Amino acid sequence: MKLILMFLTITSFSIVAAEKEMPNLAEKGNANAGSNLVATCAACHGSDGNSVNSDWPKLAGQNQKYIYDQLKLFQSGDRQNALMMAVTPYLNTLKDEDLLDIAAFYESNATSVGQAKDDEELLKLGMSLYRGGNLKKGIPACTACHSVYGNGNGLAGFPAVAGQQVGYLTSTLKAYRSGERNAGDYASVMQAVSQNLSDEDIDALANYMHGLYK
Ligand code: HEC
Ligand code: HEC
Repeated sequence: MKLILMFLTITSFSIVAAEKEMPNLAEKGNANAGSNLVATCAACHGSDGNSVNSDWPKLAGQNQKYIYDQLKLFQSGDRQNALMMAVTPYLNTLKDEDLLDIAAFYESNATSVGQAKDDEELLKLGMSLYRGGNLKKGIPACTACHSVYGNGNGLAGFPAVAGQQVGYLTSTLKAYRSGERNAGDYASVMQAVSQNLSDEDIDALANYMHGLYK
C-alpha cells in the first residue's frame, strides 16, 4: 500500500507530493502450505471450510486475523469447545506460522451462500436489527463492525458473518449473552452488544446473517 504524503518545503514555498511505502501491518500466511495442514479439520469444517452441519461454523472466506486469533485461543485453552478439544493436541504441535497458513487457506476459499427462511416477520426483524440496531433497547447496528453485507473487517480482525450457519450463529450469540464465550480481547465487545437481545432477536439475526451475501 502506498500513501501520498504532501508537505510544504519552506525554502521554495512549493507543495511537494512524495510517495512513501507503508509498512505492512497484517502478517499474511501461505494458503498453499495451509492446505496441507487441515486434513483433520475437514470432517467438521468441510474440505474447503464450508461445513455442512448447522452447528459447526464455516471458515471459508473468514478473515485471516480472526481465524488466527481464535486458533491461538483454542491452543491456549482460553476458548473451549468439546468438539474442538479433539484437535487441540494437534494444534499444540503447530507453530504460529502454521496457524497463519491455515488461516490463509480458509480465507482464500469462497463462503457458500446460505438460504434464509422465507418468513417475512422474521426477515423484517433481522434486517432492521442488523442494519439499524435498536436504540431503545440499547442494541447497536451490526453493520458498524460486520459491514452491510456481513464481510466483517479483515484488518481489524472483526469476523465475517455472511452465510454463517444458523445453529452456530444462534448458539454463539447466546454464549456471548450469557458470558460463556469470553476468550480473547474482543469477546467483551460482543458481550455488550448481545446483552439486550431476546431469543427472538437472535433467531431473526441468525436467519438474516445466514442468507446475507453480496
Ligand atoms: C469434531 C468436529 C471439529 C473438528 C474435527 C474441528 N473443528 Fe473447529 N470447530 C468445531 C466446532 C463445533 C466449532 C464451534 C465452537 C464453538 O461453538 O465455540 C469450531 C470452531 C472453530 C473455529 C472458530 C470459528 C469461529 O467462527 O469462531 C476455528 C478457527 C476452527 N474451529 C478451526 C479448526 C481447525 C483448524 C481444525 C483442524 C485442525 C478444526 N477446527 C477441527 C468443530 C470441529
Ligand atoms: C463494535 C463492533 C461490533 C458490533 C457493533 C457488533 N459486533 Fe459482532 N463481533 C465483533 C467482534 C470484534 C467480534 C469477535 C469477538 C471475539 O473475538 O470473540 C464479533 C463476533 C461476532 C460473532 C461471532 C462470529 C464467529 O464466527 O464466531 C457474531 C455471530 C456476531 N459478532 C454478530 C453480531 C451481531 C448480530 C451484531 C449486531 C446486533 C454485532 N455482531 C455487532 C464486533 C462487533
